[in-house]
Amino acid sequence: MSNTIFLLPGDGIGPEAMGEVRKIIAHMNDTMGTGFILDEGLVGGCAYDAHGVAISEEDMAKAMAADAVLFGAVGGPKWDSVPYEVRPEAGLLRLRKDMQLFANLRPAICYPALASASSLKPELVEGLDILIVRELTGGVYFGEPKEIIDLGNGQKRGIDTQIYDTYEIERIAGVAFELARTRQNAVCSMEKRNVMKSGVLWNQVVTEVHKRTYSDVKLEHMLADAGGMQLVRAPKQFDVIVTDNLFGDMLSDVAAMLTGSLGMLPSASLGAPDATTGKRKALYEPVHGSAPDIAGKGIANPIAMIASFAMCLRYSFNMVAEAYRLEKAIATVLDKGIRTGDIMGEGCRQVGTSEMGDAILAEFVATSA
Ligand code: NAD
Ligand code: IPM
Ligand code: MN
Repeated sequence: MSNTIFLLPGDGIGPEAMGEVRKIIAHMNDTMGTGFILDEGLVGGCAYDAHGVAISEEDMAKAMAADAVLFGAVGGPKWDSVPYEVRPEAGLLRLRKDMQLFANLRPAICYPALASASSLKPELVEGLDILIVRELTGGVYFGEPKEIIDLGNGQKRGIDTQIYDTYEIERIAGVAFELARTRQNAVCSMEKRNVMKSGVLWNQVVTEVHKRTYSDVKLEHMLADAGGMQLVRAPKQFDVIVTDNLFGDMLSDVAAMLTGSLGMLPSASLGAPDATTGKRKALYEPVHGSAPDIAGKGIANPIAMIASFAMCLRYSFNMVAEAYRLEKAIATVLDKGIRTGDIMGEGCRQVGTSEMGDAILAEFVATSA
């Protein structure tokens, strides 16, 4: 079995967080015979500095060929004025589009020890376990036309286009319903059918997919603005939320803060299973960005990155027990009161990125057979 992982640490805190995953992979290779073969490339601002593009063709080809891609973060003020087409974020968008990673899974789990780090009252978030299923290759992120045109009268017009076809909605709805069956069996679909034609179609298609194949799953529809409100009013009412690319982007940042910090939220971006091999292309990345305000200080929280690697073990390598052990190691470290600054609480011990990674690895090792 091939076990190739392509690392794209990126910019800002990306490489700092990725360093902690590297330690875990090295340990697994040394003691568990996992045989992960690592390669590494450049994405984002660092790729622009080296090659003048947000990701080179060579690295793009490596990402396409790998069993899994681990992605850190991209962007930062240094590249604020580079041309739009080669801005750091374009590298990530190209990876998603070219690898056809249409399903972005963003779990928001509130670890018991962190209930008090949330911006909401602890009783609202204790035991929270939501899965946001975000459509990732369509919608306003990619629809054409997408441009700024000069109207010739001193005015310009900025245009983005929201487009969804039936098949795109069908396949993301299928992912959401399938995952719901492994959880609390409830899906809430969010769109804005009151103002958007794509929202009307989204609502219809999700309803049809439900009726046709998944009538055993509880389905609810919510307007996305009301959904945002409900997420901060009573987040525990949700199990799986399925929504489009842009609403999913915003709602998952909201969900991240419910769990204590953006530094906690992992994600998996998955393609469709290959018709012959059954393998999916996949990229795993924290939900947070490059955090320029804390980059280079060694204080970033590596948990989102480490938990993204746990998702990689689960979805790309079918190492479900190891994924669970790694997630358990994170929970135990938090229970022991070890915290990075972003999730610091009363009576806890504040550590840096590397110490947090070491503590999680030590717990992971301690529970090895
Ligand atoms: P951000 O997620 O980088 O940071 C928002 C806030 O959260 C900052 O105060 C930051 O310090 C904090 N934070 C984020 N991750 C943290 C962690 N692991 N530990 C501790 N604190 C953490 O979002 P932003 O500031 O809006 O964006 C900065 C840059 O990152 C922009 O260029 C943006 O486009 C890019 N971005 C990239 C990705 C990605 O690569 N996937 C995602 C979001 C934003
Ligand atoms: C995310 C990010 C990206 C997005 C950016 C960096 C392109 O915010 O993954 O949540 O908008 O999808
Ligand atoms: Mn985002």
